[in-house]
Amino acid sequence: MEFAIDQNNLEKDLDFALEKKWSAKAIPIACEFGEIKEIMSLYNDDKYSNYWSIRNILLGDSVNYPALSHFIYMRYGGDELARKTLEDLNTLDPNKSYRILNAGSGFGSDMIEQAKLLPKAKFCGIEYNKRYADLSAKIIQALGMEERIKIYYANLTDPDQIKEIHAKEGFFDGAYSNLVVLHIKNKASLYQSISNLLKARAIYRNEDYTRQEKTNLKFAEEKIGCQNLLTIEEMIQLAHSSGFSNSSFSCLTDYWQEFTLQRKNNYLENVLQRSKKKEMFFQDVAEFFSDHGGCGGVFKHLKK
Ligand SMILES: C[S@@+](CC[C@H](N)C(=O)[O-])C[C@H]1O[C@@H](n2cnc3c(N)ncnc32)[C@H](O)[C@@H]1O
Repeated sequence: MEFAIDQNNLEKDLDFALEKKWSAKAIPIACEFGEIKEIMSLYNDDKYSNYWSIRNILLGDSVNYPALSHFIYMRYGGDELARKTLEDLNTLDPNKSYRILNAGSGFGSDMIEQAKLLPKAKFCGIEYNKRYADLSAKIIQALGMEERIKIYYANLTDPDQIKEIHAKEGFFDGAYSNLVVLHIKNKASLYQSISNLLKARAIYRNEDYTRQEKTNLKFAEEKIGCQNLLTIEEMIQLAHSSGFSNSSFSCLTDYWQEFTLQRKNNYLENVLQRSKKKEMFFQDVAEFFSDHGGCGGVFKHLKK
């Protein structure tokens, strides 16, 4: 089915066109589109990039996993990270019916991949960008996976909202965040939320930026939307104050120096409908890791 595009109002047009075809929405816990808009304008202004590929796919004739694969693999980490995450959470047995939480789930692509690997498991995403949350619900609906992957539109740092999700979902067998916590100012509250949603002995895997002496915090904040970056020791301390123990950290800084440069070049060379803002963002992130002391890696914490 074809939809005429109102060039003056692309965002509304897309919402309308998708709504006609895919009605699913994230489960609303938050009632307002809040601070993220100010903190991460990029995530509200990408309709010419990821948003366009999603539009083309979701409004095409048949939506299936291979049709979505191009978009899905555009995300950070791709398939490999989705699998590695399950391995790190000790939730890689396809015969078990785990319940897994993705804190800051974006477009939901990690969970889509993981749901294929674990046919009996169920997944929950929590996402505070309403547009991402609703779009991921539609993608999941289009793939027929809505019984297995739920998306909540909620703020991970709001204890009341987390209580509400806990009342609906109970405890999870494992939780992860991929490049989310770096954007959150109140990291203590985030860690407490995750801890409150996890069973005893469950693992929280957080792939995240950290800070060291040479890190240019002003650049990180202004160009990438990082907030209150902490050192490795501070992060571990914070986890321990929130009910976790046995924390470990593996450094990804060298890998990210290469990855961010490659990603910038790939974007410039291979993506046709580019967003100027996204282009600049990829450029800034690459620069952060090459010239401004950017660093980070993977934290794993065990719920006591
Ligand atoms: C860099 S994106 C990563 C998305 C996804 N994890 C991925 O790897 O594709 C960060 C995500 O965290 C979400 N986020 C940031 N702060 C949040 C909060 N307080 N509660 C819920 N989601 C949040 C953002 O809206 C955004 O989708």
